[in-house]
Amino acid sequence: MVDLPKMFTWGAATASFQIEGDRAGRGDTIWDAFCDVPGAVADGTDGDVTCDHVNRYREDVAILADLGVDAYRFSVAWARVQPTGRGDFSAEGIGFYDRLVDELLGAGIEPWLTLYHWDLPLELQHLGGWASRRVVEPYVEYALGVQDALGDRVKRWATHNEPWCAAWLGHGSGVHAPGIRDHALAARATHHLLLSHGRAVAAMREQDPDAAYGIVLNLDNARAVDGSEAATAALPDYDGVRNRVWLDPLAGRGYPEDTLELLAPHLGGAVLEGDLAQIATPVDFVGLNYYNDALLEAEDGQVPTPDVVQPGLERVRDADPGDGATAMGWPVTPTGLTDILRRVHTEYPGLGPIYVTENGSAWDDEHGTGADGVVEDPERVAYLYAHLEAVAAARTEGVDVRGYFAWSLLDNFEWALGLGKRFGLVRVDFDTQERTVKRSWQAYRDAISASREIP
Ligand code: FCB
Repeated sequence: MVDLPKMFTWGAATASFQIEGDRAGRGDTIWDAFCDVPGAVADGTDGDVTCDHVNRYREDVAILADLGVDAYRFSVAWARVQPTGRGDFSAEGIGFYDRLVDELLGAGIEPWLTLYHWDLPLELQHLGGWASRRVVEPYVEYALGVQDALGDRVKRWATHNEPWCAAWLGHGSGVHAPGIRDHALAARATHHLLLSHGRAVAAMREQDPDAAYGIVLNLDNARAVDGSEAATAALPDYDGVRNRVWLDPLAGRGYPEDTLELLAPHLGGAVLEGDLAQIATPVDFVGLNYYNDALLEAEDGQVPTPDVVQPGLERVRDADPGDGATAMGWPVTPTGLTDILRRVHTEYPGLGPIYVTENGSAWDDEHGTGADGVVEDPERVAYLYAHLEAVAAARTEGVDVRGYFAWSLLDNFEWALGLGKRFGLVRVDFDTQERTVKRSWQAYRDAISASREIP
């Protein structure tokens, strides 16, 4: 059994657009518009219904309670509580989260709220979206409004989920909403996401000094698996835009110089005096989402790849993930989780304790169900345990990692890949909305209950 102690926070995570449905109950978001673009989402699905969680949250909270988690990480859909991203808040929209929070607390589960998991109100995209500074103030207003409504019960706040994805998948490769391919806009979005984080934390802390505030980053380790010059040379740029451009300014060190140089032609005059001090507003924790390491190799041929996700990767590509890759085509690299936890702990101690706020894997789940009706998913069970071991190994080394949230509670809308990629510990039949637990749900429940015995 995994050696993680009783005081460790066990959780499961989801995100608004991926599970809520109830499209009629909220304003339009950039993801609705993106789903309408032919070919943008692999299977042509959208966020209109997904897991119908708005109508089924009680059942979902009951599944969480049976699982035995301490905490549930969910996100608020900005356009549900403020349909155009500015102005009046919707009593109905707030009402949903109000009921969800009460249901969680009633089940003894702590709500961990993420304010932004990529579903920007579409009206704000018309203002320029994250590439524009004009979205920063509305975001702070939104954060304060949500806190006004829920802050008497919600004491764990994350500003952004994986801002690298919002900036670079959204504006670099364009494979995510708003589907833009322009490194200048991606670089500016990077800065504005960070700035909105810092300002929101400062403003919310003033409203509630006792709550804990943090940000959730997707960080990883890159390796040049072919040992080529091209791939080796790309590593610092990869690391700069993926990891350090977030961690360094959050830790009060400003933007890393080499990365700033790489991004300078794109940033224009986006960084104003005083911004870095605001970004460096202290956080109480840092959330780390980890799925796999990046395995890079040299691109064949001499012509730089156009449309790369971020600058510096023109001459590399992802290497073959090898045997045992997940349904996403991602390699399984659990020791990388220990490595990145160690790195954040040793290089950025000022960011506070670390929580693994997402980790999980997609598989086709084609092994049928056991005699007990449970969905057999041996690959997900193996992935889960390998990564829990990786967290335990980091703790043994002295890394201050205090919790783990499985991604995801439910099969859900996996962004540009639609409903086809299943990450859930619980199967969702998207025709009937029936929920069926998987063997990994049981395995996770067992790991959690065993840890209650470890002082
Ligand atoms: C992360 C996202 C999450 C989910 C997983 C698989 O990048 O934060 O919403 O899609 O990947």
